[in-house]
Amino acid sequence: MTEQTLACPVCRAALIRTDNNLRCSAGHSFDRARQGYWNLLLAHKKRSKDPGDNATMVQARHNFLEQGYYQRLSDAVNKMAVSALNGNLEAVHQPKVTDMGCGEGYYTERLHSSLVENLTCNQLRENYPQPCPPTVSALDISRHAIKAACRRTKAIQWIVASGADMPLADDSQDLLCVLFSRLMPDAFARVLKPGAHLLIAWPGENHLIELRKEIYDEVRPSRFDPITQLNEQFKAIEQQQIRYPFTLQSQEDIQALLGMTPHSQRMASDRRARLNALNSLPLTLDVNLALLRKRKPLCNR
Ligand SMILES: C[S@@+](CC[C@H](N)C(=O)[O-])C[C@H]1O[C@@H](n2cnc3c(N)ncnc32)[C@H](O)[C@@H]1O
Ligand SMILES: [Zn+2]
Repeated sequence: MTEQTLACPVCRAALIRTDNNLRCSAGHSFDRARQGYWNLLLAHKKRSKDPGDNATMVQARHNFLEQGYYQRLSDAVNKMAVSALNGNLEAVHQPKVTDMGCGEGYYTERLHSSLVENLTCNQLRENYPQPCPPTVSALDISRHAIKAACRRTKAIQWIVASGADMPLADDSQDLLCVLFSRLMPDAFARVLKPGAHLLIAWPGENHLIELRKEIYDEVRPSRFDPITQLNEQFKAIEQQQIRYPFTLQSQEDIQALLGMTPHSQRMASDRRARLNALNSLPLTLDVNLALLRKRKPLCNR
């Protein structure tokens, strides 16, 4: 496994690893959890005792994603990531990639495999003195999410940390993925190299529209406009809409989807009863993907 050098969450100095410990030059020290992840979320920076998705939501998300309904979306994310890295000559040697708000790691694990397989430098290995595997890190503020994610593979560096204060050096990443997670433009710009890429995913107008109509009397259009929100730090270079129908094939899958979305918490009991009686549910996946480039300080604005 290739690992990137992390930055101390207290003082941002480089963290040097010895076996199961990370330590910076100022003596701040962090032990690896026995499951293999690093907890770099400082207690006094937590807004709550147990921030991020709770254990039940993480399990529901895992159960749902493992059924493969979103695999085509995940493939589209991977394709966009591969083409961004292959098209960036500065990133071609051992690119550093981070998935911020990675949840239980479904997309991250598939992204890692796709990068290993499809980065040009790995396909043309005979032309390179050494293979150039990507270094993939993934972080989430939820320790439940990271505990679940780190069961997937040891080839990814799994970290409990906040996206607002990532334990990564300034200007160090070639690609940052933020899938269905909060946007923190300044924090994202800090860790990316100038000219490096940010890949984001967010729900489109018709995402799970059938389910939302079941739950709410009125479905209001979203005002979320990430491209404008990121515009000061990032220039959008590609946008794609992934849209396809799919049908949940069991009551368990319906419960898993309900458990991972915020919708279910606001549901009236008669509506819940109706969904509880179904054995299948036709739905629409409608997700926007965008690839953005970090603006360089003085040019390309
Ligand atoms: C909607 S989920 C998406 C998870 C994953 N990207 C996926 O698509 O399956 C949002 C994730 O962001 C995490 N999260 C919320 N606030 C965060 C923060 N400030 N920093 C890092 N992660 C955060 C949550 O714990 C949750 O796992
Ligand atoms: Zn330190």
